[in-house]
Amino acid sequence: MFTVFLQKFSDLDILSYQSDFITYLESQKFSREPKNLYEPIDYILQLGGKRIRPVLTLMAANIFSDDYQKALPAALAVEVFHNFTLVHDDIMDDAPLRRGNETVHEKWGINTGILSGDAMLILAYQYFENYEPVVFQKLAQLFSKTALEVCDGQQLDVDFETRNDVTIDEYIKMITLKTSVLVAAALKMGAIVAKANEEQAQHLYNYGLNLGIAFQLQDDYLDTFGDPESFGKQVGGDIIENKKTYLYLKALEVANADDKENLRALYNGKQKNNTEKIAVVSSIFEKNNIPKETHKLIEYYTNKSFESLKHLDISDENKEGLRAFGMNLMSRKV
Ligand code: IPE
Ligand code: IPE
Ligand code: MG
Ligand code: MG
Ligand code: MG
Repeated sequence: MFTVFLQKFSDLDILSYQSDFITYLESQKFSREPKNLYEPIDYILQLGGKRIRPVLTLMAANIFSDDYQKALPAALAVEVFHNFTLVHDDIMDDAPLRRGNETVHEKWGINTGILSGDAMLILAYQYFENYEPVVFQKLAQLFSKTALEVCDGQQLDVDFETRNDVTIDEYIKMITLKTSVLVAAALKMGAIVAKANEEQAQHLYNYGLNLGIAFQLQDDYLDTFGDPESFGKQVGGDIIENKKTYLYLKALEVANADDKENLRALYNGKQKNNTEKIAVVSSIFEKNNIPKETHKLIEYYTNKSFESLKHLDISDENKEGLRAFGMNLMSRKV
């Protein structure tokens, strides 16, 4: 009964962080001249999304201080950076859909996607100018390190498309870089703004790192098995692009020789008929219990993230909030 109450309590909290963040976002004007550079920035930021990273920044700041509003510029920096990575990622992944709408490069062309993305990266940094020198330096240091790691991860993700000897360990390393470090940094930035001590901030970072791995595993699962009506992205996109996801790598580990050969052949170069490729690959995944295996690993990393909560010197209520956040992510459909 008590846990049920806390779970509801923290869901309410998440909604109020989200709405504070959106109010702040809407108070910021991105649209200016030249229109063709800034309009796509407004477009992508207003398409919404789950706003997971800024919520985590605000949540972390609220845990370590009584003025979490101070973390709004840092939260916006993280969200603008995240949206920049999505604009460039959609070019790299040749993705037509984002949040149920046309991707920026589909709508305005690849050159606009590149330059508006670049501008967003710079805008993200500008938000740190709201902080005094010591906090500014800490935020910028963490942010630069994180942004480079995301680039490393994105390059590995692309390199893996044409490699056929990728291991599950390499995959976990790759998703840690492209996705988890930003989730972890979002939390740590909130802790930095709230002036938490370094050790506590690092435990929160580690919580985010494992949660981020679970998050990307779930993203990979939904890319193949999500509902096309609600997912907001092209279902099967990873299969079309020969992404070496956990689903694919695990299938190669457990499938029989025929299925393995079939999978390898389908992931060798581009296919003419993507609809058929997606159907065959999904059915091999299903036949080999890959959805269940993937959920097991999602649960493993979610539980691993909760281990870090033990080291945090914070109230039980706050720990419960972080735990509820992780549980919610695990059951998401978008
Ligand atoms: C998508 O991130 C990119 C990944 C790292 C999986 P989100 O799933 O957080 O995307 P939005 O912001 O909610 O649209
Ligand atoms: C993207 O991973 C990670 C980053 C944007 C850095 P994905 O390519 O799986 O993300 P989605 O599925 O397009 O959102
Ligand atoms: Mg992508
Ligand atoms: Mg990608
Ligand atoms: Mg994906």
